Amino acid sequence: MRALVTGGTGRVGSAVVAKLRAEGHEVFAAGRGEGDLSRAEGSRDLVERTVAELGGLDLLVHAAGEGFVPKPVEEVTEADWDAALGATAKGTFFVAQAAAPHLREARGVIVIVEDVAAYQAWPSFASHCAAKAAQAMLTRVLARALAPEVRVCGVAPGPVAVSPGQEGRRADETALGRVGSPEDVADAVVFLAAAEFVTGATLVVDGGLLLQTGRRPHA
Ligand SMILES: NC(=O)c1ccc[n+]([C@@H]2O[C@H](COP(=O)([O-])OP(=O)(O)OC[C@H]3O[C@@H](n4cnc5c(N)ncnc54)[C@H](OP(=O)(O)O)[C@@H]3O)[C@@H](O)[C@H]2O)c1
Repeated sequence: MRALVTGGTGRVGSAVVAKLRAEGHEVFAAGRGEGDLSRAEGSRDLVERTVAELGGLDLLVHAAGEGFVPKPVEEVTEADWDAALGATAKGTFFVAQAAAPHLREARGVIVIVEDVAAYQAWPSFASHCAAKAAQAMLTRVLARALAPEVRVCGVAPGPVAVSPGQEGRRADETALGRVGSPEDVADAVVFLAAAEFVTGATLVVDGGLLLQTGRRPHA
């Protein structure tokens, strides 16, 4: 497969890149240096460059994201909001839009790296939760819009690359009592890339965090 991984220099994205390469796929790993995905133009340029380099596109993994910063609602600024929505929500859409003709031609697949934050209300992460909810809806909207040639799936990770010192607290939020790893997300991406009858669906990779209704992550 010829794959573009946005956020390919990040913690989750680089694990996806490594797994795809280990399985023999050709991968363009894009970080911020390859284009600003909070801008539609940056998204279009990145896809154009990838297609020129790889000669087409079979798989798009959108793992770019920013703006995951805790703040009480009273302190959130317009810049925080734009950062959270930019590469995550707008970037998901405009990279997919630019990639769509190439993916249609190849009968390819898009895998969007979402977050359990799309499905849970975290008071200190209002704009991040809103961006992730928008992105989760795009998984479903794009699945319908690009069918039948292109499948669109999501992976919603829980704590898989947590800040140093946060492991214990984040582990307590899960049913399995431990945090995951970026490789857990990469495994799910590879599974969905090959799951021929799956579209519009999101695979939750969270150690059972969403099941823990009594807990209050990121309160
Ligand atoms: N970490 C977790 O435990 C976790 C849990 C749930 C969901 N997720 C989701 O997984 C995705 C990746 O998270 P991560 O932890 O890997 O984040 P990360 O380590 O901070 O990496 C973010 C990636 O996005 C790129 N990026 C940021 N802003 C960009 C922009 N404006 N234009 C283009 N690229 C941009 C970064 O490029 P540079 O390297 O060039 O800055 C980097 O490759 C995010 O959507 C996040 O919400 C992560």
